[in-house]
Amino acid sequence: MALFSFFAGWIGYLFICLLGLIFIAFLCFCLYIKYIHLKYDHIPGPPRDSFIFGHSPTMLREMSSGRVVHDKFLEWAETYGPVYRINGLHFVVLCVTCPDTTKEVLMSPKYPKDSQVYKRLFNLFGQRFFGNGLITAQNHDEWYKQRRIMDPAFSSLYLRGQMGAFNERAEKLMDKLADMADNNTAANMQHMFNCVTLDVITKVTVTSCYPQIPTLPLHFIISESYIYLTFQNKKFINEVKKSCQLLRSTGRQWINERKMAVQNGEDVPKDILTQILKTAGKANDDEEIMLDNFVTFFIAGQETTANQLAFAVMELGRLPEILTKVKQEVDDVIGMKQEISFDDLGKMTYLSQVLKETLRLYPTAPGTSRFIPNDIVINGIPIPAGVSCLFNSYVCGRLDKFFEDPLKFDPERFHPDAAKPYYCYYPFALGPRSCLGQSFAQMEAKVVMAKLLQRFDFNLLPGQSFDILDTGTLRPKSGVVLDIGVFVFVPIPCC
Ligand code: HEM
Repeated sequence: MALFSFFAGWIGYLFICLLGLIFIAFLCFCLYIKYIHLKYDHIPGPPRDSFIFGHSPTMLREMSSGRVVHDKFLEWAETYGPVYRINGLHFVVLCVTCPDTTKEVLMSPKYPKDSQVYKRLFNLFGQRFFGNGLITAQNHDEWYKQRRIMDPAFSSLYLRGQMGAFNERAEKLMDKLADMADNNTAANMQHMFNCVTLDVITKVTVTSCYPQIPTLPLHFIISESYIYLTFQNKKFINEVKKSCQLLRSTGRQWINERKMAVQNGEDVPKDILTQILKTAGKANDDEEIMLDNFVTFFIAGQETTANQLAFAVMELGRLPEILTKVKQEVDDVIGMKQEISFDDLGKMTYLSQVLKETLRLYPTAPGTSRFIPNDIVINGIPIPAGVSCLFNSYVCGRLDKFFEDPLKFDPERFHPDAAKPYYCYYPFALGPRSCLGQSFAQMEAKVVMAKLLQRFDFNLLPGQSFDILDTGTLRPKSGVVLDIGVFVFVPIPCC
């Protein structure tokens, strides 16, 4: 009994010590937060919801209410100006819309991608996802090595050679739509575009044998909504995990097959997959890096373009005058031709304007962020080193100081003779870490749109709401996505 009370006394004593230590650690953490506040509070910003959680409760509220969180960033940019601060725990993020700083930071390799943001994309719900692939690699030398190897698969010369693949896959979509139009069936265009872009990236990645990749629910919700989702939607998370596993195992199989072909001295095409093989050296982790890049290309190359197309169709459905003008251009350039050539793409300038304007209002990868390792000055405000800067193209695209009457969809803003936006329009990011697939994406989008406009008349079904705020779902990193709803396609009689 005496022994028992001796141990109970000690356990009680240890427990009190532990509580004391936790309390001291918490106090130190609070002091550190206070120090961070003192260091950065001279930068304007909205009032914090709480001392510890900063502005996170507002963000979570915006996400859980189904609103587009970028609209909150926009509202704050309008209120607090070209640089404002948001806090969460001991982190500070600066939201920057100042064009000179955008230029200075994004164009220079001096400012690395922010590890707080990008390391979250390494894994997704416990599964390796982007890993150390091209989008997420933070070490400049490692990234540069991969980028140099991948560049040839996106050169203008190589992409010209892919026109056949773009045409063939887009034609398959047109056949499906023609069947639907014949049967008077409405089409969910967001889904249709997701299928065609998945089809194209598969075909272009593995040009030789073209195995079918399973159609996956590639609706990855990442980054900021991570915490929110963890508590909210278990079924969805399981689906995402399964998709992620499937994508990686498919990648592993294709990579192994291609490796065998190379080892056997077979003639392999110089496609994306062959370039991915070259990103690996001899280290143990290199197999995983190849898979990281495989996943990167499938994710980066699919939903972004599909959503751009869906948003473009949505706006054209709303704006008959613009639709008529772009259809006229397509008729003039390609007429009844089935195979669209590389040169035809260059002639469809108004279609380019429509696609650019779509990305201004709906940048399907809405921003990028950089770590600031040294003191800088933004718009006259001294910024101490050690913060992240968020460059949000959704916000810049909708600020009226950059674009007059910003909510109006007006392709004339991108007329070849119009003044070029100065570091306030960057749907593909800017500088060395800008999108590798930009030309690929815009060629693909043009081929699909041109064929669509050539062959079909379309109407929005009555009663559909297309307001992004009503139906939009936030998809950080893969963009603001709208369930575009259904369209009725009626073939033009002469085609
Ligand atoms: C409309 C379509 C697209 C948009 C709006 C878009 C946008 C972007 C943006 C904003 C970034 C920078 C991401 C960041 O800083 O975190 C990026 C990077 C990247 N994108 Fe795209 N993208 C599109 C299509 C594609 C396609 C089709 C591919 C490939 C087939 C692709 C491959 C990549 C890669 C590899 C990177 C990383 C580049 C690097 O850091 O070296 N993208 N994209």
